[in-house]
Amino acid sequence: MEVTREPQRVQILSETGLSNVPSPYIQPFENRPRPRLETSDSDIPIIDLEHSTQVRHQLQQACKEWGIFQVKNHGVPMQLLKEIKTVGRSFFNSNIQEKLKYSCNPNSAASEGYGSRMLAKEDTVLDWRDYFDHHTLPDHRRNPSRWPDFPPNYREVIVEYSEQMKVLAQRLLRMISESLSLPPSYMEEAVGEVYQNITISYYPPCPQPDLVIGLQSHSDMGAITLLIQDEVGGLEALKDGEWLLVQPLSDAIVVLLADQTEIITNGEYKSAQHRALVNADQARLSVATFYDPSRNKRISPAAELVTDASPLRYRDVVYGDYVSAWYSKGPEGKRNIDALLVHQ
Ligand code: OGA
Ligand code: NI
Repeated sequence: MEVTREPQRVQILSETGLSNVPSPYIQPFENRPRPRLETSDSDIPIIDLEHSTQVRHQLQQACKEWGIFQVKNHGVPMQLLKEIKTVGRSFFNSNIQEKLKYSCNPNSAASEGYGSRMLAKEDTVLDWRDYFDHHTLPDHRRNPSRWPDFPPNYREVIVEYSEQMKVLAQRLLRMISESLSLPPSYMEEAVGEVYQNITISYYPPCPQPDLVIGLQSHSDMGAITLLIQDEVGGLEALKDGEWLLVQPLSDAIVVLLADQTEIITNGEYKSAQHRALVNADQARLSVATFYDPSRNKRISPAAELVTDASPLRYRDVVYGDYVSAWYSKGPEGKRNIDALLVHQ
């Protein structure tokens, strides 16, 4: 029998004005945010796609060393970046009854709509986050009547944003292929028919931000993620054992390589381990667009990248199996991709 849960939303909790965080949200000591180093804020690469004379080299470095970088002059209209944040904020600022009409199915992982728990598992510490997930591609998954219709341009903005993110993701995948001396279409073909989801995350203010995590440490499971955030900031990436802030830049788009790209490139390029933190006085909004393979696509390391100097690192996996494992075990850093290592 299915267990139906009460709708639980962090924003509702936050708006009660409580002064102590309820225990299901309290992280064990080792996962809690630590005070950030003053100097570590600006290292994450920023690549100007239009004006840089060394884009290929910068991209190579960023993908090898980081798996996360920001792009500027990416061709997506600034106005659209603003608009999607505006419609997203206006959804989360509307009244709870209105929002709950769009609730996702709490018993099914990755179902479309308004939710809070990422995992159906009972034993995980809860994230200090609510979200709205939109299924945008391929067309047969897209049903705008499941998306909010307020403000009136909400659905239109999502459709336009989906198109622009597809174009940019494809462009980046071509650049990534070329930077590895693979045919330009290699990555796109390895991913196959694209499954795109757009998730607007809302991180309410938290009375004890040092005890919680907005979104727990993970690497994204698909191929590539494009993320924008508002000026509040809170996204962090793990590099050499340290958490570094990803600077909020209003004109930039954050690019995160995800696990299937690490597999396809035989570990040449790394998926980025990242998390989001929250703060005491400001709500934070981000929009993540995931570019993923279809569930029945088999993903394997590119034969061209398996050499004596760089032996086979990952076993093949059917993407749907990868996703199921991710949801049943939980992300916890990069353990899902580590489970596919040929030499554990
Ligand atoms: C995600 C994610 C980070 C953020 O949705 O996978 O990593 O800043 N989001 O919201
Ligand atoms: Ni992520």
